[in-house]
Amino acid sequence: MGIAMHLRDKTIVIGVCGGIAAYKAAELVRLYVKAGAEVHVILTRSAQEFITPLTFQTLTGNPVHTEMFNLVQEREIGHISLADRADVFVVAPATANLIGKVAAGLADDLLSTSLMATKAPVLFAPAMNVNMWDNPIYQQNQARLRMLGYRFVDPVTGFLACGWEGKGKLADPAEIFEETLALLTPQDFADETVLVTAGPTREEIDPVRFISNYSSGKMGYALARAARLRGARVILVSGPSALAVPWGVERLAVVSAEEMREAVLSRWEEATVVIKAAAVADYRPAVRAAGKVKKEGRESLSLALEKNPDILAELGRRKGHRFLVGFAAETSDLLENARKKLRAKNLDLMVANDVTQERAGFDVDTNIVRLLGPDEAEEALPEMSKDEVAGHILDRIRALRRKA
Ligand code: CTP
Repeated sequence: MGIAMHLRDKTIVIGVCGGIAAYKAAELVRLYVKAGAEVHVILTRSAQEFITPLTFQTLTGNPVHTEMFNLVQEREIGHISLADRADVFVVAPATANLIGKVAAGLADDLLSTSLMATKAPVLFAPAMNVNMWDNPIYQQNQARLRMLGYRFVDPVTGFLACGWEGKGKLADPAEIFEETLALLTPQDFADETVLVTAGPTREEIDPVRFISNYSSGKMGYALARAARLRGARVILVSGPSALAVPWGVERLAVVSAEEMREAVLSRWEEATVVIKAAAVADYRPAVRAAGKVKKEGRESLSLALEKNPDILAELGRRKGHRFLVGFAAETSDLLENARKKLRAKNLDLMVANDVTQERAGFDVDTNIVRLLGPDEAEEALPEMSKDEVAGHILDRIRALRRKA
């Protein structure tokens, strides 16, 4: 199973309405094409005032559809066959006019007709003037469509082309892309609240220095993203990381192991699955100097360290019905050490990571892991992207939770 991370066998039909945000639809189409999807574009008549069919034809490699009854296209595909071929139907930007038409059941041009005729899931990304957005007529139309199962990526607040500031700007194409992925992904985590920890922790020596490790957060963020795309509510407790918060994920930013422990314990009750991908520093300086530690008069310096709490072990002792997943970063005796941790920390699944391998472990985009279950079960995964590893880990969690 897993997420439709690449869209190779998917057909996306995207309708573009007339509005200044129409140019952003080109960026969205590029994201779909890059992910391997077959993309067909429908432009309304007013969209063509803002952007030309040639732009989309060049990006998609497919003819762009602009008219309901085009003699050549009609002979080849018929005017509602696009509606049938779509795995998902996206409208971005969607104007108040288009939303109003669909809500009222009108089908008077190619886009509204195709929307009326499709059985595919439909995603609207509206963009309009803030007063139009606030208008109760529009709000009622959107609410009505939501109730009927249509999905929306709401606009964001910002400076609008009309000079007003407020809600009405088209959502970021990357976000619309993620919503589209979610619509194509089986929602097998819809009943779960997944708490993920990610990244390194930093233990301060003084105001300008710290102890940390090479963790980038990539594995944990990939897990958070994958769980969200599969329908989970996701809480991501993250140490310092340069990565963007995945779409739809709630992130709590922390710095030290102690802060991570507090954040995890504050949200732990809500979780049904906990995945501890963070590389928690095992030790911290026994004292944090209030001012910068100076070198004058010192030829060497020893730092006294004290042990940090083991967050995962603590969770293992009080886990109740929760499903607990740990990571083991090892440089030798991988399986033996990982098994020991699995038992000692009372885990349901352990992801064993040999961090000495070149394309595995810290700060790379790929990983090579073994999944260890409590009953000596073991699965060795070949080298794959961290997104794919995340998919496998979630598949395994799903399977083990069904068995329990
Ligand atoms: N972990 C934790 N709190 C700590 C240390 C580790 O919650 N203070 C979690 C990690 O998030 C990971 C698992 O425990 O899921 C194993 O981490 P790892 O660093 O491999 O092992 P340690 O238990 O720290 O043992 P060692 O460093 O001796 O290998």
